[in-house]
This record gives sequence, C-alpha cells and structure tokens, in this order.
Amino acid sequence: MHTFDPVNFRGQFEFFLQNPGWVYLDNAATMHKPRAVVSAVNDFYQRSNSNVHRGAHNLSQHATRLFEQARDDIAAFINAKERQQIIFCSGATAALNQIAYGLMHTVLQPGDRVLITALEHHANIVPWHLHCVRFGVQLDVVPLTNDYQVDQTAFAQLLEKKPKVVSFSHVSNVLGHVQPVAEMVQLAKNAGAITVIDGAQGIVHEKLDVQALDADFYVWSSHKLYGPTGTGVLYGKTALLEQLTPIYGGGEMISEVQFSHSLFNILPFRLEAGTPDIAGVIGMAAAVNWLQKFNIDEIKEYKAMLLKQFFSGLSQIPGLDILSSPVHNAGIVTLNVQGEHPADVAELLSQQAVAVRGGQHCAMPLFNQLKLAGAVRFSFAPYNTEADVATSLHALTQAVEILTA
Ligand SMILES: Cc1ncc(COP(=O)(O)O)c(C=O)c1O
Repeated sequence: MHTFDPVNFRGQFEFFLQNPGWVYLDNAATMHKPRAVVSAVNDFYQRSNSNVHRGAHNLSQHATRLFEQARDDIAAFINAKERQQIIFCSGATAALNQIAYGLMHTVLQPGDRVLITALEHHANIVPWHLHCVRFGVQLDVVPLTNDYQVDQTAFAQLLEKKPKVVSFSHVSNVLGHVQPVAEMVQLAKNAGAITVIDGAQGIVHEKLDVQALDADFYVWSSHKLYGPTGTGVLYGKTALLEQLTPIYGGGEMISEVQFSHSLFNILPFRLEAGTPDIAGVIGMAAAVNWLQKFNIDEIKEYKAMLLKQFFSGLSQIPGLDILSSPVHNAGIVTLNVQGEHPADVAELLSQQAVAVRGGQHCAMPLFNQLKLAGAVRFSFAPYNTEADVATSLHALTQAVEILTA
C-alpha cells in the first residue's frame, strides 16, 4: 500500500505556502526546509540557548543533551556502528578538506596516489590539491565514457596503480548519474585503498547504511537534506578517524595544552574544535527524524515519475542538447539550448519563476573536457509536483523560442 502523499509532503514546507508562484528546481544547490526543522532551530534559540560541553549549569547540560542526542539520531539514520563515528562539521566541503588534510603525512606519504573521477565537484578535487598534491601525492582521474558515465574499465585499470585513497561522488551534482557505489567501494577495497564517498547528492537519493556499504568515509551537507546550512557530517570508521590529523586546533578538541605541545581529545571531539553550530546540528537531526516519517522508497519512486515526465516533455522541445541520462538518475537533468549560453537560458526561466542553475556547477574540469561553457541544471525534489514539471517545460519552450527567434 502506498503511503506517500505528495500534497501532504509539500504542505510541510512554509516556503511553498508563502511563495506558491515559484517552481523551485534548484534542489541540488540547496533544499527547502520543512517546518519541523525551522521549529527545532527556533525552539533551541528561544528555550535552550547555551554552549555545549562547557557550563556546569543546567541550561548548558540541556543544550549538550540535545546536541549529543542529534549525534545519536544521525548515527542511527545511517546505521553507524558507533556514535563517535559521526563528526559534526560545516558541510561536505569541510569534511573533504578534513579528510585530505588529515590523511596527509599519516596515511598518505609523498609518492602515493589518490584516485578520483572526472565528474567530481571542486570540493572533491581542490582539497587533494591543497593538502596532498602540493606535498607530492599524485592525483589520477577516472575518465568518463561517451555517455558521461564513470568508465568502469578504466577504474579497474587505475586501481592496478594501487592508489592509497579512492574518493568519488555517490551521485554527480552535474548530471544526476548514480554511481555503482557499492561495487566501486568493493573494487577499491580489494585493491587495498581507503574509500571516501562524497555523499552530498547521494544521501538525499537513497537510504544509506554505512555498515552495509562499508566505505571508510562518507560525507554530506545538511542543507541538501532538508536541514540548515552551515552543518554537515563526516562519517568515518573509528580506526581511520583516529589517524586523521585535526585540521583545526582550539577548544574542545584537546585533553591537555602546554605552551610546548598539546594532546588531543578522544573522538568525536578531537575533530570538532571550537563552538559548533549547535542550533544547526539540532536542526540537522530534526530533518532526518522528520524524513524518516516518510517511505524513502516511495519518495524515490515519486521522483522517478517526475523525472520520466520531464524527460518525455524534453523530447518534444527542439534544439536541446541533453547531457544527463534518464537511467540511474537521482533527479537531475542538465542540458543546453544549442548555440545559447546557459546563463541566458537560466535567466529566461527565472523570469518565468522557474528556479534552475546555469553554469559549471563547481565542476570546471568536467566542463573543460566536455568543451562546454556550462549547462542548465534542473534538479527535482519530492515536494515538486507534476504541475512544476509542466510549467518548467512550458517555460523552457518559451526560452528556446525567444533565444532562437
Ligand atoms: C557532489 C557535491 N559535493 C560537494 C558539494 C559541496 O557541498 P557544500 O558546499 O555544502 O560543502 C556539493 C555542493 O553542491 C556537491 O554537489
């Protein structure tokens, strides 16, 4: 029996009540927040505001309990084995920087190799440049096939070079393609590599079970999963988290400080220097607790239905170059109007109250390879409707007509 009711789901978001005219298809950039999340953040500031892990007073102890409960909730959400495997940080970018910085000189030594893929977000490229390539680590890149999928034959061949780390995105933020993440993790592990998954777009697509997936690290940003901006999660296996050199030093992450040296705290605190975004973390946990009231598989089916309708409508519009494949797609469609700049297309859509993103989507190396200035990205969420699909197709048709007149 189907229980997912798209009208009820959309009704949870104040934004759409206040702004019924907007067709919001920029969900891969950030998602809207349900009332449950906004209330949790509000409630914290109105009733419980205090710092965590510090004050002896009851208010601080209450805030600490809420904050640490959030860690338990998120650990349960992804089926982490131990609560200290959940490191709170500001998002996927911060987490990937912590991993790249933290592995250098402990696990990674000059001369070692790191393997990424050609469709990575800058957040999974630049940290390796900053923290590892600068010190003599070699970055290898798995190319794409002609239909813009990660070339699995080349992946297997590059694993023969024995990379110490293999880091790739679960879902491409540009194309929406879902990687065969479980198979790739297993191949990388068989080759002896540490696996890092950029789950910024993946965690919203399907239920994550980190024990079943068995990747060493999995990271995401809360704001792409109905939660507040400025928070996110670095999940890691305990033994590896213990080998990460903290990227930030300061309060909370130490057990002893002398002017000559400092000793680090235990996990998770050793990787959480300074006052965290307490309200944000509480809001992030509210988001995952709220989401679990819905059937994730039915949400996936609903989104797949919207995507099918969108692709079918696109096939009626002449003059498009569609980069995304409808197969194994998490709900992102990237395209160009032939001969037109993506920024012009996005602007014409915005004028018709359709929010999409035009540009290179923080994946400049991918667009350089494709020899494209950029593309227009339509990214769907379960609060989008069939009417949104129809309106966006109509708006795109209008844009094509205006640009090619
Ligand atoms: C695949 C992917 N990785 C990493 C990031 C970086 O996320 P944030 O900017 O929230 O740190 C994004 C954001 O768009 C993304 O789509």
